[in-house]
Amino acid sequence: MGAKIDTQDKEKLPPEGFENLNLGELEENIFSMGDIYWRKISGKNILLFKTGELADIKKIHKMLEKGQQLIIKRLTTCYQSKRLFQAISLLSKESDAREIEIIRLKVLSIFRDLFWIGNGEGEIVELQSFGRRTFFSLPASFDKSLQSVGIDIYNRNHMMAGVGVLLAMVMGYSRFEFLQDFYHSLLLVDYRPSGKAIGFFSVEAMKKEFHHAGSGLKHLGPYPFESIIFEKHSKVEFKEEIQKIFNDPSVLMVIEKHHELMNGLGFNHLHEDVLSDLECILIFVHGLFEVGEMSFKKNDGKMFIKNSLENCKRENELLSLRLKNMLKHILEGLPNIEEESEDLVA
Ligand SMILES: [Fe+2]
Repeated sequence: MGAKIDTQDKEKLPPEGFENLNLGELEENIFSMGDIYWRKISGKNILLFKTGELADIKKIHKMLEKGQQLIIKRLTTCYQSKRLFQAISLLSKESDAREIEIIRLKVLSIFRDLFWIGNGEGEIVELQSFGRRTFFSLPASFDKSLQSVGIDIYNRNHMMAGVGVLLAMVMGYSRFEFLQDFYHSLLLVDYRPSGKAIGFFSVEAMKKEFHHAGSGLKHLGPYPFESIIFEKHSKVEFKEEIQKIFNDPSVLMVIEKHHELMNGLGFNHLHEDVLSDLECILIFVHGLFEVGEMSFKKNDGKMFIKNSLENCKRENELLSLRLKNMLKHILEGLPNIEEESEDLVA
């Protein structure tokens, strides 16, 4: 990468409702904080990245170096993700159980205020960048291979992982190494054992399956090879080098359950009673975000978790009643924890 570019030519004013893209902020968040456009000299705007999509920093850097104007229709200020990131920042270095619990409660207090009670403002997509900044540590080459074979799955999985890891904290998990393993496991959902995302027909099947359990395989009826891939895609057969990424590789096994249903009619016919809390969290968050169809709105974080729990229809069989009751009970009983009053501006 060439010389660092933090700001664009001040003379190139953005049109109303847009801002000139701040590269430093984007590098920090990785995922787009709004829709990013290339503004041509003619005044025409060309959409480069939608909100929540992984931004190609190298490409953006090159365009800025060439003097191109990049503008953003900002959706989020990332205020909540900065608060969460600040509250959790010491967790990886902490070994004292009491201090770990205090950090957990601070993080959950922030999460609960907006995403459960609805106090304040913020966006769901902030959880995506919070998770990435906090827990992500996959080797760059492996990360690139995931991006290259399934960017829609990649974006969706980051969203799912950001929400899932916070729900795991609600359920009492607080050790950094474990949360990181769970986070990385969620990132690897729907990638084949070789590290490649499931094929085109299977992605279509995945979309069908998202809306109606059982319709994925039905869709693949005419394609026996794809049917087998789809049927087995939840099976964990990752190679040793992938397992080395994990503090405890056994955590990865959670992804084998992502197509289970609470009534036992999922891929492996496991009933709610034999699914762990983490498996139930995975099944629930997997049902929240559709591959390739994510759309975000201003202030959509308000009561997002509460509404998602309450709107998850029982007939979908994606939400464990045990999990629902536990999350509700814990989030509503959390103490109010004072936040450190440090400057949140990165
Ligand atoms: Fe899947």
